Amino acid sequence: MTTTVVLKLGGSLVTEKTKPFSIRFSVLKRLAQELVKAYKECCSRIIIVHGGGSFGHYVVKEHGGIDTASAVTQTIMFMRELSMIISDIFTSYGLPTVVFDTHALAVIRNNDLYLFIEPILKSLDLGLIPILYGDIVFGEKTRIVSGDEIVWCIGSKLTSSRLLFATTVDGVYDKDPSEPDAKLLDVVRLSDFKDILFSSTQGYDVTGGMRLKLELAYKYYSENIKEVVIFNGLIEGRTYEAICGTITRCSRVLRY
Ligand code: IPE
Repeated sequence: MTTTVVLKLGGSLVTEKTKPFSIRFSVLKRLAQELVKAYKECCSRIIIVHGGGSFGHYVVKEHGGIDTASAVTQTIMFMRELSMIISDIFTSYGLPTVVFDTHALAVIRNNDLYLFIEPILKSLDLGLIPILYGDIVFGEKTRIVSGDEIVWCIGSKLTSSRLLFATTVDGVYDKDPSEPDAKLLDVVRLSDFKDILFSSTQGYDVTGGMRLKLELAYKYYSENIKEVVIFNGLIEGRTYEAICGTITRCSRVLRY
């Protein structure tokens, strides 16, 4: 069975989340190198989904929501811009990336996300690396869809998937990670979620941080999803290890 890796690059990892429109170029270049190595050595079926960071989240905050036409157009415009920058950097390192605008492949019905994944799968068959991003998705009730939700949604539709969340912390902690005695949880089960105290995320965040990442698991976790790992993409080597299945410092999210 061919397994596909769906890798989320958190907005705080790829942008400076507290500074509007600032890209973390050095992080992206290092991630590109790790991805090239992993793509060659371990897995050529990789879908990348990135978050909004100080692009999407900042624009939505500045507009006070997405109720106006300019809020919608500017959010989409800046998210596409961020995606193109990421794709350009990755392509310059030899990764065959292709950007799919999420809003053009998706719709919201009854507040649920429907994603047309066929073109994404066809591009994977050609050896390409599709890139999607957290975006505004139109529907009866148009809303912001986080990159995390896209990852879970794609993961649940593939016959075999591994969901990897690259963040700026080592994983899920038993308390606020800034507390000195906070412990990293190697394994998080769906039933444990209520006991975890979540820290508030830094900077602009209109989609809910770590808590949402885990809450989505309730909705989307299925037997097609073989592995869910939350890890620190800021530490050199971890993204490569996560893709190649050798990572040890991380949190694994289990269904049971
Ligand atoms: C948010 O995506 C997208 C928009 C604000 C339009 P995410 O919620 O996945 O972004 P990060 O990873 O938290 O920055």
